[in-house]
Amino acid sequence: MIAVSKEERARELYDVIRACRMCALAETRTHAVPGEGPLDAEVMFIGEAPGLNEDRQGRPFVGAAGQFLSELIAEAGLRREEVYICNVLKCRPPGNRDPLPGEIEACAEYLDLQIDLVDPLVIVTLGRFSMARWFPQQTISRIHGRPKEVDGRLIVPMYHPAAALHQGALRQVLIDDFRGLRDILARARAGLTAPAAPAAETAAGEPPAATSSKPSPAPQPAASAPPSPAPAAAPGGGAGAAPAGPQQIPLFE
Ligand code: URA
Repeated sequence: MIAVSKEERARELYDVIRACRMCALAETRTHAVPGEGPLDAEVMFIGEAPGLNEDRQGRPFVGAAGQFLSELIAEAGLRREEVYICNVLKCRPPGNRDPLPGEIEACAEYLDLQIDLVDPLVIVTLGRFSMARWFPQQTISRIHGRPKEVDGRLIVPMYHPAAALHQGALRQVLIDDFRGLRDILARARAGLTAPAAPAAETAAGEPPAATSSKPSPAPQPAASAPPSPAPAAAPGGGAGAAPAGPQQIPLFE
């Protein structure tokens, strides 16, 4: 069998996304926005959908929210060039309206393939549409910044950077949460098999978020879409090593 490199799989996936006509957003987009970043990134950021600037340039988070996201990534001790950035939707909804359920479903397989390909140690969701994949019954104000372990990787729900542009008080919340990513990433690097410290505060009165991680299978996006690769045993190249990482991070269960 011929081995296909990550780069080739990514190129093929991006080509499929750029040509996608699975939903009506194909009629109004200028450019689809597959995502960008190194295919071996430890951290993947997942936003909502391209906005006006992203639609024009074909790149994620290049407008005002993107500028703030770059600052936040620096607060986490990371460089933008070393993380992977993509969105739930690959095409801009007209007028930046909220994504529709059918659009999210039509795009879901692309995000599945990106997660399989990059296989990050940590996924940071930005905003409620991205969060809903892993925390379907939760509200961001209750759980922001608190990681949940899913299939050997940590999922961290964060406010969307654009929220702080409209609501100034969220700016410091986002900065603090992104600073917390340093410890979360250290924990993920050390391996996630350690017993988690008990949650400092539980989401009282709310049912626990589902722990099954992989979203329900979505329809095949296109006949020419590359097949999903076999799931890796341990994300990020092996998180199953003996744990020695920070124990104080409350995991959201
Ligand atoms: N907001 C998003 O959710 N994604 C982008 O790419 C830009 C703005």
